[in-house]
Amino acid sequence: MQHFTSLSDVANPSALLAEAALFVQHPHQKSHLGKGKSLGLIFFNASLRTRMSTQRAGQLLGMDVTILNVSQDSWQLEFEDGTVMDGAKAEHIKEAAAVMGSYCDILGIRTFAGLKNRIADYAEHVMTAFQQYAGVPIVSLESATRHPLQSLTDWLTIHQQGFTHRPKVVLTWAPHPKALPQAVGNSFVEWMQAAEVDLTIAHPYGMDLSPDFVKNTPVMYNQDIAFEGADVIYAKNWSSFKDYGHVNDKERDWQITAEKMAHTNNAKFMHCLPVRRNMVVADQVLDSPQSLVISQAANRIPTAQAVLATILETL
Ligand code: CP
Repeated sequence: MQHFTSLSDVANPSALLAEAALFVQHPHQKSHLGKGKSLGLIFFNASLRTRMSTQRAGQLLGMDVTILNVSQDSWQLEFEDGTVMDGAKAEHIKEAAAVMGSYCDILGIRTFAGLKNRIADYAEHVMTAFQQYAGVPIVSLESATRHPLQSLTDWLTIHQQGFTHRPKVVLTWAPHPKALPQAVGNSFVEWMQAAEVDLTIAHPYGMDLSPDFVKNTPVMYNQDIAFEGADVIYAKNWSSFKDYGHVNDKERDWQITAEKMAHTNNAKFMHCLPVRRNMVVADQVLDSPQSLVISQAANRIPTAQAVLATILETL
C-alpha cells in the first residue's frame, strides 16, 4: 500500500480488516516493525481520537511520532500555484510538504472541507498536494471528503459483533447546529459497500450525499421505516451536498431516541464521535448497553496499527 486515502488505495480490504482484528488481540505484535522510522501527524483541524490513537498506534509499532498543529504552531501555507505570496501565507506547500517528507517516513494529514466551494473540496487539494510533494506515503487522518481510518474502524466494530446473518446497517443523518462535512458519511458508505452488510441510508429530503458515493445503495426519507429490522444504527450529521454546506436545522425530530431504537432489531448504536448529546442522540441511547461508541473509538488504535504496519512492510 503506497498511500491510505480511500478504499481504492487498499489492494485487499478484507485482509486489512483481519490485520486490524489481529492487533486487537495482540497490540504488541510487530512492535519492532517501525523501529528507526518516523511518523509525522499533521493537523490542519482539531482532533481528539485521530490524534491520540494514531500516535499510540505508531508508538506501539516502535515508531518515533512527531505532531504538528499547522494552524497553531506553524506558518500559514499557500496551496495556489504561481501566486505572489505577499499576504499572510508565509510558506508554499511545495517546500513545506517536501521538508516534512524529508523528516518523516510516513505522514498522516488531517484536513476538513471548507464547505464553501464543493468543487474545491471534492478536488482534495490538501491531500493531493502532500501526495505530490512529500515523497513519502500519506495516510489520511480525514480529508475534505473521506475519513478512511474511521471507516475501517467502523467496519472492524461491526465485524466484532459476530452477526451470524448479513446485518442490516442504517446510516442515518441526525441533526446538528453547525455545518459539518460529508466525509464520514461518504467514507462509511464507500467501505460498507465493500463489506458483507446490507446498507441503507436514511436522511431528510435535500440532505443527499454525493451520488458518486451513494451509487446503488437504497436511500429512505422516513427514519422510522428505515430503522425497522436494523442491526446497526450509525448516526452522523452532514451538511447539504446539493445546496453545498447548508445546515438543515429544521429536522430536530431526526435525533436518535430510545423510541426510534425500539423499531430496530435491538440494534447497536454507533457514532464516530465527538457527538452532541440530546441533539444528535438522546442520553438514553448513548448511555445504553446498545451503544458501541467507546469500543468503536478504542478500535481506532488497532486500525491505525494495521494501516501503518501495512505501509511499513513496503518501505
Ligand atoms: N472520529 C474522529 O475522527 O474524532 P476526532 O475528530 O476527535 O479525531
